[in-house]
Amino acid sequence: MQLEVIVLAAGQGSRMRSAIPKVLHRIAGVPLLEHVARLAKSLSPLRTTIIYGHGGEEVLEALGHLDVDWVEQRERLGTGHAVMQVEKGMRDEATVLVLYGDVPLLQQDTVTELLALTHDGSLALLTVLLDDPTGYGRIVRDQRGRVQRIVEEKDTTTEERLIREGNSGILAVNGQRLKGWLNRLTNQNAQGEYYLTDIIGLAVEDGVPVETVTATDVDEVLGVNNRQQLAHLERVYQLRQAEALMASGVTLKDPARFDLRGQLRVVGQDVEMDVGVILEGDVHLGHRVRIGAHCMIRDSHIGDDVDILPYSLVDGARIGDGSRVGPYARIRPDTELEAGVHVGNFVEIKKTRIGRGSKVNHLSYIGDATVGSRVNIGAGTITCNYDGVNKFQTIIEDGAFIGSDSQLVAPVRIGAGATIGAGSTITRDAPADQLTLSRSRQVNVEGWQRPKKKCQESGD
Ligand code: UD1
Ligand code: CA
Repeated sequence: MQLEVIVLAAGQGSRMRSAIPKVLHRIAGVPLLEHVARLAKSLSPLRTTIIYGHGGEEVLEALGHLDVDWVEQRERLGTGHAVMQVEKGMRDEATVLVLYGDVPLLQQDTVTELLALTHDGSLALLTVLLDDPTGYGRIVRDQRGRVQRIVEEKDTTTEERLIREGNSGILAVNGQRLKGWLNRLTNQNAQGEYYLTDIIGLAVEDGVPVETVTATDVDEVLGVNNRQQLAHLERVYQLRQAEALMASGVTLKDPARFDLRGQLRVVGQDVEMDVGVILEGDVHLGHRVRIGAHCMIRDSHIGDDVDILPYSLVDGARIGDGSRVGPYARIRPDTELEAGVHVGNFVEIKKTRIGRGSKVNHLSYIGDATVGSRVNIGAGTITCNYDGVNKFQTIIEDGAFIGSDSQLVAPVRIGAGATIGAGSTITRDAPADQLTLSRSRQVNVEGWQRPKKKCQESGD
């Protein structure tokens, strides 16, 4: 099949009450229009054209990278008028599929089913049965159930308004036929617009069969017009992803409290996630990874048997097999923890490599550092990596022990097996296997007495 896809996306979306064009609002971190463009791409069409209008510059700036043609609809005179904008380039022999830029959850299977109906020259229409069809064009059928036309809500009679079969707006038809009907559209209706939906009546007039697929899942054809609908579709989308993950063997404590905004490239066996986990970007999870409540993992590679404890943020990092992170840890970009590393509560790590079996268990900041294996970094250790202008490196070699509350003023090197006494400020390299400390000596003052309060004299 020679397929051409047209995506209608020129609408204003004023009910979003937003400065951002509607189609740039996101579901699972991806703009609505990009969801639709991805669906289009999955159908391998000859080309996809997006009709844009409202907020055009911004839309192009945000989504210019998509592999589509962009056509501007300067005046928004209706869905029929929108399709007229691409009429010229349309191939006679092609099947034209019309999608909406604000209907993000449409499934490929449904579209494939729809396209199959066009094989004998039929016009194929995606409809939906609604409990409350308010706002939708209604599918008018004859006594034998054959589609006669679509009537827009504002043009309905009281009787037609009771029809529960709504028009999703998504349709497919032969290019030559479509062009013929577009030329015959008028704007003689309640809204003074060129309705694409009027081509249904024209098809019937011309004896072209109109076939329908009825979406079984209403959410699939729902458009986003306001923030409530955006939130609803976000949850529907997230639940779909959660179901797929569980089906593949991942334990989710609560599929309703799980968010994936990106790709889970690989998921090992028996991964477990507690409530409120958010995964963003490109995430790899090894076997038996456990992620505690309310953690966020972004663009990271998590090895096998890793435990991420509650309230931790892991961003742009590699966490080695058997490591333990958190609770309340912040792992920032360009961090690599080798196998069996422990990073505990209130620890921030940035641009640092930490060797096998090393521990940073409490209240520390380690940035721009290279830490060897079996190193123990005591509570409250800080790498002073920044002089206000430049960043400097700290190197801590294998088996070093950094006493609590130490500051390592970079650039500085702590030799293998060195011990740093607690409370030290280290400004010069510390030799291997030695004790280095830089705190002032303790003084005990004999015979000293605490000052006492003077007796208060009463009266004046
Ligand atoms: C349209 C259908 C209606 C259907 C409903 C489903 C028509 C006349 N009506 O109604 O039968 O039940 O969708 O949601 O087609 N757009 C443009 N340019 C325009 C007008 C609209 O690009 O000039 C785009 C919008 O951005 C949107 C889509 O077309 O993505 C539908 O437009 P909208 O105004 O929402 O149509 P409805 O009145 O809801
Ligand atoms: Ca609409």
